[in-house]
Amino acid sequence: MELKPGMSALVTGGASGIGKALCIAFAQKGLFVTVVDFSEQNGREVTSLVQKENRKFHGDLGVPSAIFVKCDVSIEGDLAAAFAKHVDTYGGLDICINCAGIANKTLVYYDTSDGTRTWRHAINVNFVAVIDGTRIASQIMRSRKKPGVIINIGSAAGLYPMFADPIYTGTKGGVVMFTRSLAPLKRHGVRVNVLCPEFVQTNMAEQINQKIVHATGGFLKMEEVVNGAFELIKDESKAGACLWITKRRGMEYWPSAEEQRKYLLNYTKSKRTVTKNVFPSIQTPEFYEKIVVHTLSHNFRNATRLDRVRLRLPIEPQSALVKIIYAGVNASDVNFSSGRYFSGSAKETAARLPFDAGFEVIHSITCL
Ligand SMILES: NC(=O)c1ccc[n+]([C@@H]2O[C@H](COP(=O)([O-])OP(=O)(O)OC[C@H]3O[C@@H](n4cnc5c(N)ncnc54)[C@H](O)[C@@H]3O)[C@@H](O)[C@H]2O)c1
Repeated sequence: MELKPGMSALVTGGASGIGKALCIAFAQKGLFVTVVDFSEQNGREVTSLVQKENRKFHGDLGVPSAIFVKCDVSIEGDLAAAFAKHVDTYGGLDICINCAGIANKTLVYYDTSDGTRTWRHAINVNFVAVIDGTRIASQIMRSRKKPGVIINIGSAAGLYPMFADPIYTGTKGGVVMFTRSLAPLKRHGVRVNVLCPEFVQTNMAEQINQKIVHATGGFLKMEEVVNGAFELIKDESKAGACLWITKRRGMEYWPSAEEQRKYLLNYTKSKRTVTKNVFPSIQTPEFYEKIVVHTLSHNFRNATRLDRVRLRLPIEPQSALVKIIYAGVNASDVNFSSGRYFSGSAKETAARLPFDAGFEVIHSITCL
């Protein structure tokens, strides 16, 4: 989905941290935003920041370009009322971010309470409210017959155990599997995806043992998390996708294609196979790196950059996947990067930028 001024988003937990960053990022694209949170002061602050950004896109609209709805997402009915307020104000819903979340500070196996204020509440906020938010948002989107995207904020702790907080990790694992199981909603125009960042510097993350954060390579930049969410929103092929972001390896989808092959059942009635893997031992990567010319120059280093690109699978019929190994830089590379091999004026050549670099390469066919 391409984000355009005039679209609208509802963000739970929008008053702080990741939710706040997403509210502002949406406003920078001219989207109307409903900030849903129980923290009134922070929520109102974010709302006015969103309105300020939105002034670059919209004149006097008659309605505010952002509204705040005070809501405890764990209270049945309150969340539905927040969505209703959004639809009343903006007439529809393009994007929903279920982001409100909390840690559970008492280890559940030491907890002697009934859990109302501890583990049961954490499950209600982190998991039950995400299910409810997804349910309500998808019903609104379907009823309007317009495509919509829902991003549930999971966590890397939903992909591997976090011994310090079994309830948190359990709820996030639930969010991951719940979201992945919603891939079929795409048929009805609603794409639901889950974002699983490792540590990001927010109020919540400050309570975490910093040694653990350090062991993972430190905090992610908030920008990386926002970029991840935007990738899931923009990429129309992603439904039920789980995007994992770590400091060590950047963005990667989990499970990988290789892992999925271990459990996915092929129950399609069609006998047609799109791609036959005749070399089952070959592992295709999720991402690859390529050298791209971004500036016309004889100085190859200044002319180029390394881009990380997602490999689009399956490979189209009659095509081959070719692995390119760069073996050095020679005169042809330098002439190519300076635009000498193209006919036309300097302006026409510059219009081709950016383009893939490389002459002095070894090609190996990896997959047919
Ligand atoms: N910070 C991290 O390292 C990290 C990593 C992975 C995932 N996450 C997830 O990102 C999400 C946002 O966390 P954050 O790090 O930005 O934390 P944060 O504490 O800065 O923001 C959480 C927001 O949720 C709101 N909130 C909490 N309970 C609520 C409730 N019952 N009703 C309404 N609002 C409520 C809070 O008021 C706050 O504004 C959470 O779901 C969290 O689990 C965080």
